[in-house]
Amino acid sequence: MATPTLQAEILKLKKQRNAVILAHNYQSKEIQELADFVGDSLGLAYKAKETPADVIAFCGVHFMAETAKIVNPGKIVVLPDLDAGCSLEQSCPGPQLEAFLKANASKNYYVIAYINCSAHVKALSDCICTSGNAVKIVEAAPQDRPILFVPDQNLGSWVMEQTGRKMDLWKGACYVHVEFTRDSIQAIKTKHGDAKVVAHPECTYAVRMLADEVCSTEKMVGFCRNDPAETFIIVTESGMLHRLEREVPGKRFIPGPTGHCACADCRYMKMNTLEKLHDALRDLSPQVNMDEDIRKRAEKPLLRMLELSR
Ligand code: 13P
Ligand code: SF4
Repeated sequence: MATPTLQAEILKLKKQRNAVILAHNYQSKEIQELADFVGDSLGLAYKAKETPADVIAFCGVHFMAETAKIVNPGKIVVLPDLDAGCSLEQSCPGPQLEAFLKANASKNYYVIAYINCSAHVKALSDCICTSGNAVKIVEAAPQDRPILFVPDQNLGSWVMEQTGRKMDLWKGACYVHVEFTRDSIQAIKTKHGDAKVVAHPECTYAVRMLADEVCSTEKMVGFCRNDPAETFIIVTESGMLHRLEREVPGKRFIPGPTGHCACADCRYMKMNTLEKLHDALRDLSPQVNMDEDIRKRAEKPLLRMLELSR
């Protein structure tokens, strides 16, 4: 089926199902074009919580769709491809964190989990954060308890730099963002003298040091819109460029090259396609579900986050 026909069919099914289509900033241009809302993890969590729709078609990765289900247990949540995982989620398996916390029970850790983790890890945490509110969440943490920050060590160290609060960091990383190197960004910076560098906090320290702005994907839109520069080097997943080109017209966006390829695609994010979204809405499958005990325990720290970041 041609793309416009497929998009029209999806919109028809969406109406029949009383569904809402939520898409992350890293989704393909075709998916972003027909989504009801395109945003970062924080914006998507709010939208998922507030939607009156019966069905949430989540175009993102598994932990994002799972988050939508945690805050909306009565709704059907479909994810076009259930294998759309995340390397950060994989770097912190629930049973491993559970064993670590048991072995270190005397420390009485306050656990802050970056939203890029499983429902099991969320259930073991005191508060969740996203890259958009991590500084705020860490600043609101109790002063009399040590913080364990899971699973992204790069986001964690950036938050420590911003807040001055010391934390113990889980050694996880995003396989896409750690591919950007200081040399590759420096080379592109030299070529485009006037360009500003905007990087995601999942990047390494060496790359963040070259950036004019380090922020979540949503904040990138506001920064590029308001900053007087005309050209920006965008050091994050390639889908971000579609959002920026659509919402900040007249400016130029250059993708940050990774070590071995010119485009930084997250293979998990790109598993979702229009065809799979169409079939998911038609069949109401595959659905994201979880154990009710885990869901209830995971909901608490998520709601705490939503409350704290208002
Ligand atoms: P944002 O919340 O900034 O969109 O980040 C999500 C993510 O997966 C980054 O790799
Ligand atoms: Fe996970 Fe990285 Fe993909 Fe984001 S870009 S979903 S952190 S693997």
